[in-house]
Amino acid sequence: MDRNLALEVVRVTEAAAIASARHMGRGNEKLCDQAAVDAMRRALDSLRIRGTVVIGEGERDEAPMLYIGEKVGNGDGDDSPELDIALDPLEGTTICATGRGNALSVVAFAEKGGFLHAPDTYMEKIAVGPKARGVIDLDKSPTENLRRIAEALERYVEDLTVCILDRPRHQELIQEVRAAGARIKLIGDGDVAGAVATCFEETGVDVLMGIGGAPEGVLAAAAIRCVGGDFQGRLKPRNEQEAERARAMGIEDLDRIFTLDDLAKGDVMFAATGVTSGDFLKGVRFFKGGAVTHSVVMRSRTGTIRYVESIHRFDRKPQLVA
Ligand code: FBP
Repeated sequence: MDRNLALEVVRVTEAAAIASARHMGRGNEKLCDQAAVDAMRRALDSLRIRGTVVIGEGERDEAPMLYIGEKVGNGDGDDSPELDIALDPLEGTTICATGRGNALSVVAFAEKGGFLHAPDTYMEKIAVGPKARGVIDLDKSPTENLRRIAEALERYVEDLTVCILDRPRHQELIQEVRAAGARIKLIGDGDVAGAVATCFEETGVDVLMGIGGAPEGVLAAAAIRCVGGDFQGRLKPRNEQEAERARAMGIEDLDRIFTLDDLAKGDVMFAATGVTSGDFLKGVRFFKGGAVTHSVVMRSRTGTIRYVESIHRFDRKPQLVA
Protein backbone atom coordinates (compact mmCIF):
# COMPACT_ATOMS: atom_id res chain seq x y z
CA MET A 1 0.00 0.00 0.00
CA ASP A 2 1.28 3.43 -0.91
CA ARG A 3 2.14 5.36 2.26
CA ASN A 4 0.42 8.45 0.87
CA LEU A 5 -2.84 6.53 0.95
CA ALA A 6 -2.91 7.12 4.70
CA LEU A 7 -3.59 10.78 4.08
CA GLU A 8 -6.11 10.02 1.37
CA VAL A 9 -8.06 7.51 3.41
CA VAL A 10 -8.89 10.03 6.09
CA ARG A 11 -10.89 12.05 3.55
CA VAL A 12 -13.24 9.10 3.31
CA THR A 13 -14.12 9.05 7.00
CA GLU A 14 -14.14 12.86 7.21
CA ALA A 15 -16.75 13.08 4.46
CA ALA A 16 -18.98 10.45 6.07
CA ALA A 17 -18.61 12.00 9.52
CA ILE A 18 -19.57 15.49 8.33
CA ALA A 19 -22.56 14.18 6.41
CA SER A 20 -23.98 12.18 9.33
CA ALA A 21 -23.13 14.80 11.97
CA ARG A 22 -25.47 17.19 10.13
CA HIS A 23 -28.33 15.02 11.38
CA MET A 24 -27.09 14.53 14.94
CA GLY A 25 -29.79 14.41 17.57
CA ARG A 26 -32.71 14.52 15.15
CA GLY A 27 -33.84 11.07 16.20
CA ASN A 28 -33.62 9.64 12.71
CA GLU A 29 -31.13 6.77 12.57
CA LYS A 30 -31.81 5.97 8.95
CA LEU A 31 -31.14 9.52 7.85
CA CYS A 32 -27.83 9.63 9.75
CA ASP A 33 -26.71 6.32 8.28
CA GLN A 34 -27.80 7.09 4.72
CA ALA A 35 -25.98 10.41 4.73
CA ALA A 36 -22.80 8.69 5.94
CA VAL A 37 -23.07 5.89 3.38
CA ASP A 38 -23.64 8.25 0.43
CA ALA A 39 -20.75 10.48 1.41
CA MET A 40 -18.37 7.60 2.06
CA ARG A 41 -19.23 5.97 -1.27
CA ARG A 42 -18.48 9.21 -3.12
CA ALA A 43 -15.22 9.73 -1.26
CA LEU A 44 -14.05 6.16 -1.88
CA ASP A 45 -14.61 6.60 -5.57
CA SER A 46 -12.26 9.57 -5.60
CA LEU A 47 -9.35 7.33 -4.52
CA ARG A 48 -7.02 5.74 -7.01
CA ILE A 49 -7.49 2.20 -5.77
CA ARG A 50 -9.18 -0.97 -6.91
CA GLY A 51 -11.11 -1.75 -3.76
CA THR A 52 -13.52 -4.49 -2.81
CA VAL A 53 -15.79 -4.07 0.20
CA VAL A 54 -15.48 -7.17 2.39
CA ILE A 55 -17.01 -5.76 5.59
CA GLY A 56 -19.76 -3.37 4.61
CA GLU A 57 -23.37 -2.35 5.00
CA GLY A 58 -24.66 -5.88 4.38
CA GLU A 59 -25.29 -8.34 1.57
CA ARG A 60 -25.98 -6.99 -1.89
CA ASP A 61 -29.73 -7.65 -1.65
CA GLU A 62 -30.09 -5.69 1.60
CA ALA A 63 -27.73 -2.76 1.03
CA PRO A 64 -27.97 -0.57 -2.06
CA MET A 65 -24.49 0.84 -1.47
CA LEU A 66 -21.23 -0.32 0.11
CA TYR A 67 -22.51 -3.88 0.09
CA ILE A 68 -20.17 -6.83 0.55
CA GLY A 69 -18.46 -7.50 -2.76
CA GLU A 70 -19.00 -3.98 -4.14
CA LYS A 71 -16.11 -2.53 -6.11
CA VAL A 72 -15.02 0.97 -5.11
CA GLY A 73 -12.31 3.41 -6.16
CA ASN A 74 -11.35 4.83 -9.52
CA GLY A 75 -8.13 2.90 -9.98
CA ASP A 76 -7.46 1.41 -13.35
CA GLY A 77 -4.58 -0.31 -15.05
CA ASP A 78 -2.27 -2.60 -13.15
CA ASP A 79 -0.49 -0.11 -10.94
CA SER A 80 -3.29 1.02 -8.62
CA PRO A 81 -3.39 -1.11 -5.48
CA GLU A 82 -5.92 -3.91 -5.20
CA LEU A 83 -7.32 -3.69 -1.68
CA ASP A 84 -9.91 -5.23 0.60
CA ILE A 85 -11.95 -2.71 2.52
CA ALA A 86 -13.73 -2.98 5.85
CA LEU A 87 -15.97 -0.05 6.64
CA ASP A 88 -18.69 1.34 8.80
CA PRO A 89 -19.70 4.80 7.55
CA LEU A 90 -21.49 5.41 10.85
CA GLU A 91 -20.55 3.20 13.80
CA GLY A 92 -23.21 4.06 16.35
CA THR A 93 -26.28 5.13 14.40
CA THR A 94 -28.35 5.41 17.58
CA ILE A 95 -25.61 7.45 19.24
CA CYS A 96 -25.63 9.93 16.36
CA ALA A 97 -29.42 10.08 16.18
CA THR A 98 -29.60 10.84 19.90
CA GLY A 99 -26.53 13.09 20.08
CA ARG A 100 -24.63 10.94 22.57
CA GLY A 101 -20.85 10.35 22.60
CA ASN A 102 -18.48 8.07 20.67
CA ALA A 103 -20.09 7.79 17.22
CA LEU A 104 -17.38 7.26 14.60
CA SER A 105 -16.97 6.93 10.88
CA VAL A 106 -14.53 4.08 10.24
CA VAL A 107 -12.67 2.52 7.34
CA ALA A 108 -9.81 0.01 7.13
CA PHE A 109 -7.77 -1.10 4.12
CA ALA A 110 -5.78 -4.31 3.79
CA GLU A 111 -4.02 -6.14 1.01
CA LYS A 112 -6.21 -8.74 -0.71
CA GLY A 113 -7.32 -11.43 1.73
CA GLY A 114 -6.25 -9.40 4.78
CA PHE A 115 -9.61 -9.33 6.55
CA LEU A 116 -11.77 -12.15 7.87
CA HIS A 117 -15.00 -12.23 5.88
CA ALA A 118 -17.17 -12.05 8.98
CA PRO A 119 -20.90 -12.75 8.79
CA ASP A 120 -23.32 -10.17 10.14
CA THR A 121 -23.82 -11.95 13.42
CA TYR A 122 -22.64 -11.44 16.98
CA MET A 123 -19.11 -11.98 18.25
CA GLU A 124 -17.80 -12.44 21.76
CA LYS A 125 -14.84 -10.09 22.14
CA ILE A 126 -11.96 -9.19 24.39
CA ALA A 127 -9.66 -6.26 23.59
CA VAL A 128 -6.66 -4.76 25.37
CA GLY A 129 -3.89 -2.27 24.68
CA PRO A 130 -0.22 -3.03 23.86
CA LYS A 131 0.93 -3.57 27.46
CA ALA A 132 -1.45 -6.51 27.91
CA ARG A 133 -0.71 -8.07 24.54
CA GLY A 134 -0.44 -11.85 24.69
CA VAL A 135 -2.18 -12.42 28.02
CA ILE A 136 -5.84 -12.53 26.97
CA ASP A 137 -7.65 -15.80 26.29
CA LEU A 138 -11.38 -16.09 25.53
CA ASP A 139 -11.29 -19.68 26.79
CA LYS A 140 -10.51 -18.37 30.28
CA SER A 141 -13.11 -16.76 32.54
CA PRO A 142 -13.45 -12.97 32.67
CA THR A 143 -12.04 -13.11 36.22
CA GLU A 144 -8.92 -14.95 35.06
CA ASN A 145 -8.47 -12.56 32.12
CA LEU A 146 -8.74 -9.57 34.44
CA ARG A 147 -6.16 -11.09 36.78
CA ARG A 148 -3.72 -11.62 33.91
CA ILE A 149 -4.32 -8.14 32.47
CA ALA A 150 -3.81 -6.53 35.89
CA GLU A 151 -0.52 -8.42 36.26
CA ALA A 152 0.64 -7.30 32.81
CA LEU A 153 -0.24 -3.69 33.61
CA GLU A 154 1.34 -3.97 37.08
CA ARG A 155 -1.90 -2.88 38.71
CA TYR A 156 -4.61 -4.29 40.93
CA VAL A 157 -7.75 -5.67 39.29
CA GLU A 158 -9.56 -2.92 41.23
CA ASP A 159 -7.65 -0.35 39.14
CA LEU A 160 -8.87 -1.73 35.80
CA THR A 161 -11.77 -0.23 33.86
CA VAL A 162 -13.72 -2.63 31.68
CA CYS A 163 -15.89 -1.29 28.85
CA ILE A 164 -19.04 -3.36 28.29
CA LEU A 165 -22.06 -2.79 26.03
CA ASP A 166 -25.08 -2.16 28.22
CA ARG A 167 -27.24 -5.12 27.17
CA PRO A 168 -29.34 -7.66 29.11
CA ARG A 169 -27.16 -10.43 27.60
CA HIS A 170 -24.24 -9.08 29.63
CA GLN A 171 -25.88 -9.35 33.03
CA GLU A 172 -23.76 -12.33 34.08
CA LEU A 173 -20.57 -10.80 32.70
CA ILE A 174 -21.22 -7.54 34.54
CA GLN A 175 -21.84 -9.43 37.80
CA GLU A 176 -18.62 -11.38 37.41
CA VAL A 177 -16.53 -8.30 36.60
CA ARG A 178 -18.01 -6.52 39.62
CA ALA A 179 -17.29 -9.53 41.83
CA ALA A 180 -13.70 -9.54 40.56
CA GLY A 181 -13.47 -5.94 41.78
CA ALA A 182 -12.84 -4.13 38.48
CA ARG A 183 -14.51 -0.88 37.51
CA ILE A 184 -17.00 -0.88 34.64
CA LYS A 185 -17.84 1.63 31.95
CA LEU A 186 -21.19 0.67 30.43
CA ILE A 187 -21.75 2.00 26.92
CA GLY A 188 -25.03 2.25 25.07
CA ASP A 189 -23.51 1.50 21.66
CA GLY A 190 -20.23 1.65 19.77
CA ASP A 191 -17.94 -1.18 20.77
CA VAL A 192 -15.42 -0.31 18.03
CA ALA A 193 -14.69 2.90 19.93
CA GLY A 194 -14.69 0.90 23.18
CA ALA A 195 -12.17 -1.61 21.82
CA VAL A 196 -9.89 1.01 20.27
CA ALA A 197 -10.00 3.05 23.50
CA THR A 198 -8.10 0.23 25.28
CA CYS A 199 -5.04 1.13 23.17
CA PHE A 200 -4.99 4.78 24.25
CA GLU A 201 -4.13 5.17 27.93
CA GLU A 202 -5.63 8.64 28.20
CA THR A 203 -9.12 7.16 27.68
CA GLY A 204 -8.92 5.32 31.00
CA VAL A 205 -10.38 2.18 29.38
CA ASP A 206 -8.21 -0.92 29.90
CA VAL A 207 -10.31 -3.80 28.56
CA LEU A 208 -13.33 -4.33 26.34
CA MET A 209 -15.40 -7.43 27.06
CA GLY A 210 -18.71 -8.77 25.83
CA ILE A 211 -20.72 -9.58 22.75
CA GLY A 212 -21.18 -7.13 19.86
CA GLY A 213 -21.31 -7.23 16.07
CA ALA A 214 -18.81 -9.47 14.26
CA PRO A 215 -18.13 -6.94 11.47
CA GLU A 216 -17.35 -4.39 14.18
CA GLY A 217 -14.93 -6.97 15.60
CA VAL A 218 -12.95 -6.99 12.35
CA LEU A 219 -12.82 -3.18 12.30
CA ALA A 220 -11.65 -3.04 15.91
CA ALA A 221 -9.02 -5.70 15.19
CA ALA A 222 -7.72 -3.66 12.23
CA ALA A 223 -7.20 -0.64 14.47
CA ILE A 224 -5.74 -2.61 17.36
CA ARG A 225 -3.29 -4.33 15.02
CA CYS A 226 -1.95 -0.92 13.98
CA VAL A 227 -1.40 0.14 17.61
CA GLY A 228 0.01 -3.20 18.80
CA GLY A 229 -2.74 -4.15 21.25
CA ASP A 230 -4.53 -7.49 21.35
CA PHE A 231 -7.97 -8.80 20.45
CA GLN A 232 -9.76 -12.13 20.36
CA GLY A 233 -13.20 -12.89 18.98
CA ARG A 234 -15.52 -15.90 18.79
CA LEU A 235 -18.69 -15.92 16.68
CA LYS A 236 -22.01 -16.10 18.52
CA PRO A 237 -24.67 -16.83 15.89
CA ARG A 238 -28.17 -16.30 17.26
CA ASN A 239 -29.82 -19.04 15.24
CA GLU A 240 -29.19 -21.78 12.69
CA GLN A 241 -29.68 -19.34 9.81
CA GLU A 242 -26.82 -17.16 11.08
CA ALA A 243 -24.70 -20.23 11.72
CA GLU A 244 -25.32 -21.35 8.14
CA ARG A 245 -24.33 -17.92 6.88
CA ALA A 246 -21.04 -18.18 8.73
CA ARG A 247 -20.39 -21.61 7.21
CA ALA A 248 -21.26 -20.26 3.75
CA MET A 249 -18.58 -17.61 4.29
CA GLY A 250 -16.02 -20.36 4.89
CA ILE A 251 -16.06 -20.51 8.70
CA GLU A 252 -16.38 -24.22 9.51
CA ASP A 253 -15.58 -24.21 13.23
CA LEU A 254 -18.06 -21.85 14.89
CA ASP A 255 -16.33 -22.22 18.28
CA ARG A 256 -13.02 -21.11 16.91
CA ILE A 257 -11.26 -18.24 18.64
CA PHE A 258 -10.10 -15.69 16.09
CA THR A 259 -6.88 -13.92 16.99
CA LEU A 260 -5.82 -10.50 15.81
CA ASP A 261 -3.97 -12.01 12.85
CA ASP A 262 -6.99 -14.11 11.84
CA LEU A 263 -9.16 -10.99 11.74
CA ALA A 264 -6.79 -8.47 10.16
CA LYS A 265 -3.42 -9.49 8.74
CA GLY A 266 -0.66 -8.07 6.52
CA ASP A 267 -0.31 -4.35 6.01
CA VAL A 268 -3.42 -2.69 7.40
CA MET A 269 -4.47 0.95 7.37
CA PHE A 270 -7.21 2.27 9.64
CA ALA A 271 -8.90 5.66 9.76
CA ALA A 272 -11.65 6.96 12.01
CA THR A 273 -13.27 10.38 12.28
CA GLY A 274 -15.32 11.41 15.29
CA VAL A 275 -18.96 12.10 14.50
CA THR A 276 -19.85 12.91 18.10
CA SER A 277 -17.19 13.56 20.74
CA GLY A 278 -15.88 10.51 22.53
CA ASP A 279 -13.01 8.94 24.41
CA PHE A 280 -10.28 9.61 21.89
CA LEU A 281 -11.74 11.74 19.09
CA LYS A 282 -13.69 14.98 19.07
CA GLY A 283 -16.93 15.11 17.11
CA VAL A 284 -17.68 17.29 14.08
CA ARG A 285 -18.11 20.99 14.91
CA PHE A 286 -19.81 23.24 12.40
CA PHE A 287 -19.01 26.92 11.99
CA LYS A 288 -20.15 29.56 9.52
CA GLY A 289 -19.24 28.19 6.10
CA GLY A 290 -17.52 25.04 7.28
CA ALA A 291 -16.72 22.39 9.85
CA VAL A 292 -13.83 21.01 11.88
CA THR A 293 -13.18 17.27 12.03
CA HIS A 294 -10.89 15.21 14.25
CA SER A 295 -9.53 11.91 12.96
CA VAL A 296 -6.93 9.27 13.57
CA VAL A 297 -5.07 7.40 10.81
CA MET A 298 -2.86 4.44 11.58
CA ARG A 299 -0.82 1.89 9.70
CA SER A 300 0.31 -1.50 10.94
CA ARG A 301 3.54 -1.75 8.93
CA THR A 302 5.07 1.34 10.48
CA GLY A 303 2.97 1.70 13.63
CA THR A 304 2.52 5.39 12.83
CA ILE A 305 -0.48 7.03 14.48
CA ARG A 306 -1.52 10.37 13.04
CA TYR A 307 -4.16 12.65 14.49
CA VAL A 308 -5.62 14.88 11.83
CA GLU A 309 -7.61 17.98 12.65
CA SER A 310 -9.10 19.36 9.45
CA ILE A 311 -10.89 22.59 8.72
CA HIS A 312 -13.33 22.11 5.87
CA ARG A 313 -14.61 25.13 3.96
CA PHE A 314 -17.95 24.40 2.37
CA ASP A 315 -17.92 27.74 0.56
CA ARG A 316 -14.83 26.56 -1.33
CA LYS A 317 -15.48 22.81 -1.42
CA PRO A 318 -19.18 22.42 -2.08
CA GLN A 319 -18.91 18.66 -2.62
CA LEU A 320 -18.46 18.18 1.12
CA VAL A 321 -21.78 19.80 2.02
CA ALA A 322 -24.14 17.14 3.32
P1 FBP B 1 -24.68 0.33 14.54
O1 FBP B 1 -23.80 1.45 14.19
O2 FBP B 1 -24.88 -0.61 13.41
O3 FBP B 1 -25.96 0.83 15.14
O4 FBP B 1 -23.92 -0.55 15.65
C1 FBP B 1 -23.79 -0.09 16.95
C2 FBP B 1 -23.37 -1.22 17.88
O5 FBP B 1 -23.45 -0.76 19.21
C3 FBP B 1 -21.96 -1.78 17.63
O6 FBP B 1 -20.94 -0.97 18.10
C4 FBP B 1 -22.05 -3.12 18.33
O7 FBP B 1 -21.06 -4.02 17.89
C5 FBP B 1 -23.45 -3.56 18.00
O8 FBP B 1 -24.20 -2.38 17.71
C6 FBP B 1 -24.13 -4.33 19.11
O9 FBP B 1 -25.32 -4.85 18.65
P2 FBP B 1 -26.71 -4.76 19.45
O10 FBP B 1 -27.15 -3.31 19.45
O11 FBP B 1 -27.64 -5.63 18.69
O12 FBP B 1 -26.46 -5.24 20.84
